[in-house]
Amino acid sequence: MSIKFKKIRGTRDIYGEEFEKLFFIFEKSREIFSKYGYDFILTPAFESKELFEKSTGETTDIVQKEMYVFEDLSGRKLALRPEGTPPVLRAILENNIEIPCKFAYFMNMFRYERPQKGRYREFFQLGAEAVGFKEPYIDLEVLLLAEDLLKNLGIKDYRFEINSVGCISDREKYSKYLRNILKDKINNFCENCKRRYERNPFRIIDCKIDKAKIREIKSLMDFLCDDCRRHHEILINLLEKENFKYVENPLIVRGLDYYTRTAFEIISDRLGAQDALGGGGRYDFLLKDMGGPDSPGIGFAFGVERLMLVMEDIKKKDKALIYVVYVTEKEKDEAIKWVRKIRENNLYADMEWDYRSLKSQMRKANNKGAKWVLIIGEEEIKREKVKLKNMETGEEILTDNPFKFFEK
Ligand code: HAM
Repeated sequence: MSIKFKKIRGTRDIYGEEFEKLFFIFEKSREIFSKYGYDFILTPAFESKELFEKSTGETTDIVQKEMYVFEDLSGRKLALRPEGTPPVLRAILENNIEIPCKFAYFMNMFRYERPQKGRYREFFQLGAEAVGFKEPYIDLEVLLLAEDLLKNLGIKDYRFEINSVGCISDREKYSKYLRNILKDKINNFCENCKRRYERNPFRIIDCKIDKAKIREIKSLMDFLCDDCRRHHEILINLLEKENFKYVENPLIVRGLDYYTRTAFEIISDRLGAQDALGGGGRYDFLLKDMGGPDSPGIGFAFGVERLMLVMEDIKKKDKALIYVVYVTEKEKDEAIKWVRKIRENNLYADMEWDYRSLKSQMRKANNKGAKWVLIIGEEEIKREKVKLKNMETGEEILTDNPFKFFEK
């Protein structure tokens, strides 16, 4: 045997225990999000390329280097979504959804990044967007919600790192300062930083390679205007009152263009190099930039695979499988009847559809972790009974009503 096809680098097959975890996260998040008044939304996996260029931002790594871009047969320039915020906002505007509104999503995303632990080319995000709220109270709600999710998933080792990235004019002032102070030094920085120096110097402080070289530099916090500073101070006060655990990290700038004011990341030391479980922040001008009303917004997204990496294994639901075996081909019809009857009673049943020896059927029942085996032979049919074997105790019972044992 030589298999002819393999999955594409950076993609994954999710099954077994991992699938259980993924679905558990989805189900838990539905519960938590509805508690906070968020409705789920699903947007298309591909959108116009321009949507991301104009919102995620033309200078970002995502748009410059990581998007899966293609032309469809009629020449439209499309992109597989690399993130959920622009599509969700597009959907709110296009469907005339009343603002303020709050949406959650669980969607796959695509980024052409170098694959490694916790970093894939197709991955899931669990995210939320709250649109139309200006005051810092929604920032608090979003942070509490993100933490509630982590707690309900049994995740413990995480920390919230919070910053304010100010408004556009704060950032312009800061960029000017950075260009000035780095003028003679930028040649010693990495290629990425050199590129950022011209177009987006603000992002240099996020550089993992040149971290040490910028230690002496003032942070964006020192450049906040009065309104942005006020917003940040109120939020910090609210967090203190709530006893919310966080650290302020002036180096959080986020890799996307649209952020203003509150920006945060949720970090786990259990993850390794890709240590961000999630991230988010405010985007007070994005909706307007997209042709919508002048309404602010805030949101976050968790990387679902990263949540899965730090979660404990979930306890499998006790499925109590009932496996029906038949001694010879002749009893197959009767076995099928039983399988259907058990399923009609909302219990789990299965059988071997292509006949195999009794021994092999019993082995299969055992491998599948069946709790009960229902054995159907010529003798049982004649007596209008079935033989029931308890796989835990080995006990065998002859009965005309196996259902009274299944419930126990
Ligand atoms: P982001 O920081 O680009 O933000 O992504 C959020 C999370 O998605 C990351 O913290 C990480 O856990 C996960 N993630 C990102 N790239 C990968 C990858 N290649 N493989 C696996 N996981 C990955 C956003 O996408 C914003 N849209 C979040 C947001 C919503 N901001 C406001 N609203």
